[in-house]
Amino acid sequence: MPSSEASLVPMRPAADPAPQAAVGPAAPVQKTVVRVHELVKEYDGRRVLDGLSFQLQRGHVYSIIGPSGCGKTTLLKSLLGLTPVDSGSIHILGIDVSTVSGAESESVRRRTGVVFQSAALLSSMSVLENVALPLRLHTEFSASMIRRIAEHKLELVGMQDSRDRMPAELSGGMKKRCALARAIVLEPDLLFLDEPTSGADPVTAAVLDELVLGLTRKIGCTAVAVTHEMRTAFRLSHEILMLWRGRIHHQGAPASFIETDDKVINQFVQGRGKGPLSEPWGQNGASEEARRDFQNH
Ligand SMILES: Nc1ncnc2c1ncn2[C@@H]1O[C@H](COP(=O)(O)OP(=O)(O)O)[C@@H](O)[C@H]1O
Ligand SMILES: [Mg+2]
Repeated sequence: MPSSEASLVPMRPAADPAPQAAVGPAAPVQKTVVRVHELVKEYDGRRVLDGLSFQLQRGHVYSIIGPSGCGKTTLLKSLLGLTPVDSGSIHILGIDVSTVSGAESESVRRRTGVVFQSAALLSSMSVLENVALPLRLHTEFSASMIRRIAEHKLELVGMQDSRDRMPAELSGGMKKRCALARAIVLEPDLLFLDEPTSGADPVTAAVLDELVLGLTRKIGCTAVAVTHEMRTAFRLSHEILMLWRGRIHHQGAPASFIETDDKVINQFVQGRGKGPLSEPWGQNGASEEARRDFQNH
């Protein structure tokens, strides 16, 4: 393995097995927490998600990778019910979120934490108020209890000294920490992160990745990070899913993204300018023929 790739080898300890290690009679029972089946999403007739399917198991950390513009945020918004889909089904925590409404969708929302790409902090609220907001909206806890829980979560992300500051006074990395504290304040079963390290310098990115890993272990949730940063994907994930041309091109352990001859994966992992990823697709310009050829390769 070239030395530039050696630094991408995952840091997880061996005691934390990847899902495919768990086979045979002694394997722990796994539960599917996200099941996506033949999901299609178009914007103004332009297909972004092209019948993609995948499943995620409880307690694991996943990254969904792919080049900018390939549909990662669209997929995440679809999973969160924030954008309507054209067809296919999405089961989150056993509930079909594409058809459900009312109390059931509220229950999924309560059990799901999200860190948006922009952090999405409310600018008129302090750091502490932002973190406390889900508790105020979804629980009947007393004001003092809410404050205690929010302060504790801020401690977990190392932001206790900034609790009275306003979002505008925070650096990008601090905003992400605050958004992370807010996302875990209800101790969710599922944590979604959109580009958790984008815009961060390499050291801040590594610190944020370790923070995310530590927190997911602490609260025992399944985490799904959407990212174009390979380093983040390798550091965080039991499994990586690569999104390309509207489908899951490959799902597997981080090592399978290095030990492969697949041209698409190699181009992305090695960050090369030339290769199939640089070729257009569908209404972006590729012919149907080229697309079929690729899908049959
Ligand atoms: N609300 C929208 N309306 C129209 N096109 C959109 C919208 N959101 C995203 N797109 C387009 O869909 C494609 C996928 O976008 P996105 O999901 O943001 O990709 P990624 O997160 O992988 O960078 C892009 O071509 C983008 O321009
Ligand atoms: Mg995005």
